[in-house]
Amino acid sequence: MNTPQASEVWIRLQKELPQWVEESRAQCGEGKVASYIPELAKAPHRALGIQIMNGSGASIAAGDAAIPFTMQSISKVFTLLLALMDNGEAAVFDKVGMEPTGDNFNSMLKLELVQPGIPFNPLINAGAIVISSLIAGARMEEKSDRVLQFFRKLAANDFLEVNEAVYQSEAASADLNRSMAYFLKDNGVLKGKVDEVLDVYFRHCSINVTCADLARMALVLAFDGTDPITGERHIPRRYVQIAKTFMVTCGMYNASGEFAIEVGMPAKSGVAGGILTLVPGRYGIGVVGPALNPKGNSIAGVDLLETLSQRLDWSLF
Ligand code: DON
Repeated sequence: MNTPQASEVWIRLQKELPQWVEESRAQCGEGKVASYIPELAKAPHRALGIQIMNGSGASIAAGDAAIPFTMQSISKVFTLLLALMDNGEAAVFDKVGMEPTGDNFNSMLKLELVQPGIPFNPLINAGAIVISSLIAGARMEEKSDRVLQFFRKLAANDFLEVNEAVYQSEAASADLNRSMAYFLKDNGVLKGKVDEVLDVYFRHCSINVTCADLARMALVLAFDGTDPITGERHIPRRYVQIAKTFMVTCGMYNASGEFAIEVGMPAKSGVAGGILTLVPGRYGIGVVGPALNPKGNSIAGVDLLETLSQRLDWSLF
């Protein structure tokens, strides 16, 4: 019977994934661990790990899949989903656009250059900060708690927590994000108190995960909003469709076009070295490799995903 566990692909992964990880690990030396948030600089430079989970809940892990790291920008996919569930499409896309920028993730350039001054998309910092302001909740504690509970549900892990050291470090080194948020407030795009909105944003970026958590969260996206292991629907299909489209067009920052050509899978990276990706209807995948390439994506992680996509024919295109 051709069940996923028994499939040729699964058997090949079990056999070859550890070797593929070691081949890609060689790239780590060319990368740099993020240091603009000082706490992130402590991450292990040569680490590389991956976990792949199928719809029955079986997993294959290789390399340093068990090391914890913060989600950083990967969290933006899920706050977007929560904001869509809280507000609906029209209200969200009144405040953020749907287009890639071609600029760095923390650029404010187009906010002034292109009118109306709304962020181009929800996965750049400016867009994600606006999304944080749209999370329902009377106070910032309630908003942050709703985000954490939503992430726990998707990861099927009640132990997900904010990494307090990273959160403090983010908050203490966020002058650019702060200036962006004030700019957005002045433009009338961001409502509420800037410090409170930023607090929600810093906290969700600082949620600690492992590759297993990312793989499970990705699995829900791979199955269009339903956790295939429990059968529970967590997110409407339409919103998952929106999120996955943004992952393809903007998920790897201003390297998304190249990633779409070389790998061709919906993905979102974070500056702590994580990448969340998926094979639609089949696998959720979490990758970690803290050494980054010049565009801010895990250098060895991208290399490993290129190998997987090419050898297993996983590109959507
Ligand atoms: O705001 C920041 O710079 C980090 N908390 C998140 C950066 C990140 O992962 C890149 N985002 N697209």
